[in-house]
Amino acid sequence: MIDIAEEIRSLQLDSAEVNGMNNPADAKQEEVEEVDKMEEDSNDHITMSTQEMQDETSKVKDKEIPVPEEVEASVEMEEDNKKRHLNVVFIGHVDAGKSTTGGQILFLSGQVDDRTIQKYEKEAKDKSRESWYMAYIMDTNEEERVKGKTVEVGRAHFETETSRFTILDAPGHKSYVPNMISGASQADIGVLVISARKGEFETGYERGGQTREHVQLAKTLGVSKLLVVVNKMDDPTVNWSKERYDEIESKMIPFLKLSGYNVKKDVQFLPISGLLGANMKTRMDNAICPWWNGPCLFEALDAIEVPPRDPKGPFRMPIIDKFKDMGTVVMGKVESGSVTEGDSLLVMPNKTQVKVLAVYCDENKARYAGPGENVRIRLSGIDDEDILSGFVLSSIARPIAAVNEFDAQLQILELLDNAIFTAGYKAVLHIHSVVEECEIVQLLQQIDPKTRKPMKKKVLFVKNGAIVVCRVQVNNLICVEKFSDFTQLGRFTLRTEGKTVAVGKVMELPSGSNFLKQFCIKATPTCVDSYIWGEGATLVVFGCWVMGICVPQSPSVPEH
Ligand code: GTP
Ligand code: MG
Repeated sequence: MIDIAEEIRSLQLDSAEVNGMNNPADAKQEEVEEVDKMEEDSNDHITMSTQEMQDETSKVKDKEIPVPEEVEASVEMEEDNKKRHLNVVFIGHVDAGKSTTGGQILFLSGQVDDRTIQKYEKEAKDKSRESWYMAYIMDTNEEERVKGKTVEVGRAHFETETSRFTILDAPGHKSYVPNMISGASQADIGVLVISARKGEFETGYERGGQTREHVQLAKTLGVSKLLVVVNKMDDPTVNWSKERYDEIESKMIPFLKLSGYNVKKDVQFLPISGLLGANMKTRMDNAICPWWNGPCLFEALDAIEVPPRDPKGPFRMPIIDKFKDMGTVVMGKVESGSVTEGDSLLVMPNKTQVKVLAVYCDENKARYAGPGENVRIRLSGIDDEDILSGFVLSSIARPIAAVNEFDAQLQILELLDNAIFTAGYKAVLHIHSVVEECEIVQLLQQIDPKTRKPMKKKVLFVKNGAIVVCRVQVNNLICVEKFSDFTQLGRFTLRTEGKTVAVGKVMELPSGSNFLKQFCIKATPTCVDSYIWGEGATLVVFGCWVMGICVPQSPSVPEH
């Protein structure tokens, strides 16, 4: 079985910089010296029924942020728009200032005008939430505005001289972690927003705070770089204090290392005030903060490098949302390959062949979209009711596997009430945009966390911190890939009762799924199934399955 030690290393939440510790949740509690504990979300009026808490699957939602009409004018995207594109997820504890910072970015980049801000100021005042007016740019739902909490991931776009960014504003409240997972799984980089206000940093950082959970999830979901913005530096309890900034940085660094980030290469800290827009588009005013000579947020975002992507891979786009609009429109991030108007693709796992009528990047119509782009694609050949989020728009010649069982390597983080993890364990599986109940049907092998080698002894159960290879089963067919083939479609998290209990990666798919990968059924009007045989990119033969015999029909299918 593969080079397991190497594979584990890449899954490990531990950094290579730290030896022998497996469970980031165990990051030394002493680090959180005298925790100035705030009353648990005292201003938090969200209540959820047990049913809602358990039914994680119903809450994964995104919302597009409407921009004023002047800006929205749908311009044909210039073919020669060579600006690179990055997806940035805003994560962090509830009320850290993610939406305020996101809204301020849109304001500073000219996406939102003064008139709109004045309107939001009035609306926020009417709702007795004066200071939330900037957050209203991102929080567009009535529920979000009334409660002052993001629920659905807000999605907006802005540009600098060199880059185009899609902002994904995740909710911080613990009840909406599934939505945060959906946002982070679409991102390349993360902005971790931390409140420097007295007591707020501490609440977010302590065990059970979302600063920790979000960092661990972001790492597992493939957010390779983090900008840690220490926000609310203007707050009277902080007043741009260097001591407070240094304290937060020094406490965050060990935790980020334990979560698997290489702090020197992948993480950058900077102080801001999202509310005032300080150190965001332009560098910090020396008169206010003389000790900060580093970059501002826009500069830091522009300077972040992400690994190059391959536009020639087989097309894969997990579907996050769908709606009806002159055909069926699906939304998602292109994880591999590219898509062009006129392409024929498959919607998996239901294997429906569709045609691409139009492609939209941000608000703009485009002829082509490559990997990493967040797109909307208008399709013909399928009804929106036949699509669920978690389905994958896929190449015909090399479709994604559809399985209801796979072998995975799991790292157990923290089980509820220190339970044991054994065959029969049930949890909610989050993999790309899929949210499905799953069951661990068999533990196959335990991995020694120190030597990284499989242990000889038969494994019947494991506890917190263990690494184990096991078989995972789901009721419905889901589209996944081996982690070694497509990291983004092969890494996942397991959650129970609103808590992340394990992170993992897909190691093996059942051998039958290779068959599924090669044979894709296309229903014809006469109900005779046509089959497309695809072996890599070279041999592609149409066939007709008549009485169990595959009859070749046509020698080629366009490769995607
Ligand atoms: P959730 O979506 O619920 O996770 O919260 P959030 O992180 O999006 O926080 P949000 O932007 O809604 O802001 C929460 C509160 O913090 C609001 O009252 C903001 O005005 C305030 N706030 C945000 N940024 C700053 C800042 O830079 N300075 C000060 N003083 N207050 C801020
Ligand atoms: Mg928010």
